Amino acid sequence: MFVDIFDDIDSLRTRLQGNAPVAFVPTMGNLHPGHLALVKRAKQLNDQVVVSIFVNRLQFLPHEDFERYPRTLADDCKALSQLDVNSIFAPHEKILFPTAQEFLLALPPVADTLEGKFRPGFFQGVATILLKLFNIIQPQQAVFGKKDYQQLHIVQEMVRQLNIPVEIIACDTVRAPDGLALSSRNQYLNHEQRQEACQLFQTLLQLKNEIVSGKREFLTLQRDATQHLEQRGWSVDYLSVHKRSNLMPAQAHDNDLVVLAAAWLGNTRLIDNLEI
Ligand code: PAF
Repeated sequence: MFVDIFDDIDSLRTRLQGNAPVAFVPTMGNLHPGHLALVKRAKQLNDQVVVSIFVNRLQFLPHEDFERYPRTLADDCKALSQLDVNSIFAPHEKILFPTAQEFLLALPPVADTLEGKFRPGFFQGVATILLKLFNIIQPQQAVFGKKDYQQLHIVQEMVRQLNIPVEIIACDTVRAPDGLALSSRNQYLNHEQRQEACQLFQTLLQLKNEIVSGKREFLTLQRDATQHLEQRGWSVDYLSVHKRSNLMPAQAHDNDLVVLAAAWLGNTRLIDNLEI
């Protein structure tokens, strides 16, 4: 199928003007089946689907992998054209940041926890780029994966609290057959690390099963799960049980929980979560 690729704002806006409502999938490219599942969901929501591909410098810390983040635009466009995507927005940095981005969103305290504690400024960068993209594209819906659970929560809150007229649609995490959540960063793993990587999911699953079977000593469960991973050579940034509604640490009497984790395998940082 034919897909229009736009690298500037004016021609994208001209293309979208007066057309059917848009379902939007924001990405940083290097698309894998997890992204493609979001696109398929978007296609069910609206006939008109726009995918953005933009590696957003604002959400990387100076020592992080911005420069080596995989950029595979030609392959991405090919995959999207096969899914009947109408428009791809793949701007150069100078288009979205013609001058330094001095207006940045101030985020609530939840953005300083979990991922935010280890990647200060990350969610401010994500929220700021998404607000820009929502303003440019003005979609009816925007589709996000639950793999980035805290990102999804913060985007939902941003849209609610700032009255942004877009509906946020959440999609389940897509996993490899051994349970590893699909992520562009998985390709940094060597063969042995890739074999080991599914242990993150397996450990979360074990913890979930213990909670479902009635255990409520979350601190002990978290400590045991963390130790299990560290004994296998992982370095765990966090692994903890939270309330789904506000991502506050769970208390023994709480229901509707999610366990979230981030951990390093060699030089690669993986995140995952499971709703309980
Ligand atoms: O989840 C991502 O890939 C990015 O954080 C997003 C939402 C595209 C913003 O740059």
